[in-house]
Amino acid sequence: MSLTKFHYFCAEMETARRVYIETYGCQMNVADTELVLGIMHGAGYEKTDTLADADVVFVNTCAVRENAEQRAFSRMVDFRKHKQSKPVLVVGVLGCMAERLRRRFLESDRSVDVVVGPDEYRMLPALVEGAMAGERGVAVRLSRVENYDDVVPLRTEGISAWIPIMRGCDKFCTFCVVPFTRGRERSRAFQGIVNEVRQLAERGFKEVTLLGQNVNSYRDGEKDFADLLTAVAEVDRTMRIRFTTSHPQDMSDKLIGVIATHANVCNYIHLPVQSGSDRILELMNRSYTADAYLALVERIRRMIAGVSLSTDIISGFPTETDEDHRQTIELIRAVGYDGAFTFKYSPRENTKAWKMGDSVPEQLKAERLNEIIEVQRAISLRKNKQEIGRTVEVLVEGQSRKSALEFCGRTGTNKMVIFPQNGFVAGRYIHVTIERANSATLFGRHAE
Ligand code: 5AD
Ligand code: SF4
Repeated sequence: MSLTKFHYFCAEMETARRVYIETYGCQMNVADTELVLGIMHGAGYEKTDTLADADVVFVNTCAVRENAEQRAFSRMVDFRKHKQSKPVLVVGVLGCMAERLRRRFLESDRSVDVVVGPDEYRMLPALVEGAMAGERGVAVRLSRVENYDDVVPLRTEGISAWIPIMRGCDKFCTFCVVPFTRGRERSRAFQGIVNEVRQLAERGFKEVTLLGQNVNSYRDGEKDFADLLTAVAEVDRTMRIRFTTSHPQDMSDKLIGVIATHANVCNYIHLPVQSGSDRILELMNRSYTADAYLALVERIRRMIAGVSLSTDIISGFPTETDEDHRQTIELIRAVGYDGAFTFKYSPRENTKAWKMGDSVPEQLKAERLNEIIEVQRAISLRKNKQEIGRTVEVLVEGQSRKSALEFCGRTGTNKMVIFPQNGFVAGRYIHVTIERANSATLFGRHAE
């Protein structure tokens, strides 16, 4: 090796290789990205937020709806272009699309070097090494046991952390691809989760969100989700505990009781209903009726004072009629949600609903969706206006998006609050008196 080449070689060795990752989809993917970065970090890679600096580019994808996939595809096109000017770059597709579209990536679409599903992230360093040597790497097996229990996620320092407590889903809602892309449901060890929360509290985190496709079915031996929530809440009583998502079927009174009796477990439940029509709920395999759901909401409201509720709703499920849609609107009004995430039905191959056809025309799906959004917006506005004059506790998050002079934070009920900056630091609890509100945000002033 010539001297110049030797120096060049040493300089290369000194700078760690860098990985850039973009994340699409749900909070589970955000948490998975931290796991992936933890695994890559263990193999000597550094994280970069600048694409131009990257040696490895990952797209952590979502397959739950067609438009989520389209966005990821268009990013992959950008990365392929980038690779033309930097041929050593390794491009990888991770997550649910990797699982769902493995064949396409393997056979026809050769734009990516590695394809890795949600249960195979431990393979990433080896597959990236292989790709650097010119091999294509694919790992998409689903596991019944992989929990990444021993992997230390690479978290961005802050006040809020995501903690996956389980992986996969066994519910098999007929519209949903998740049971196929993330595999069977499995829970992490109880003590490991409690220890992780303790470590986060010691590092100064002020809020954790326990994550799972259906946290209510968490189980480790005799211990259920209510036990886990109790143990986690008792780690540090100044730490806010959130959780998502709750399937209505498994929402026990024991669990509602734990939320009600622990001041630091936030009074906020995301409780997807999907539809207000019993006929559609049955076709969706949701295992409850609209009345059973409403009775659950009533129980929750009776047991948890001031609880806030949000939901997921799909418009235009196969065979949905105007009458089914009207029942959904009726249910939204009857519950009076604080917020809703609303989606047009998107057919997913291999699901049961796929075989039912996609009978509701796009235009009608959109009209129904717009009506749902409008009805919910009016309810959110009415609910938020009820907060005017009240003083609420807010966990300060930092500068608001719109102005350096204003700060933002959330209430325990998950409402965003904007208030004038007054020397506050992120992670502090303050009291804010609400002065005005729109359907998405509360505005107020620090209560002395
Ligand atoms: N089409 C539209 N929305 C879907 N969701 C899941 N699968 C589909 C689909 N095929 C929605 C559900 C779920 C949320 C995470 O995404 O409302 O609760
Ligand atoms: Fe999908 Fe239903 Fe499981 Fe949620 S509960 S991930 S909607 S199958």
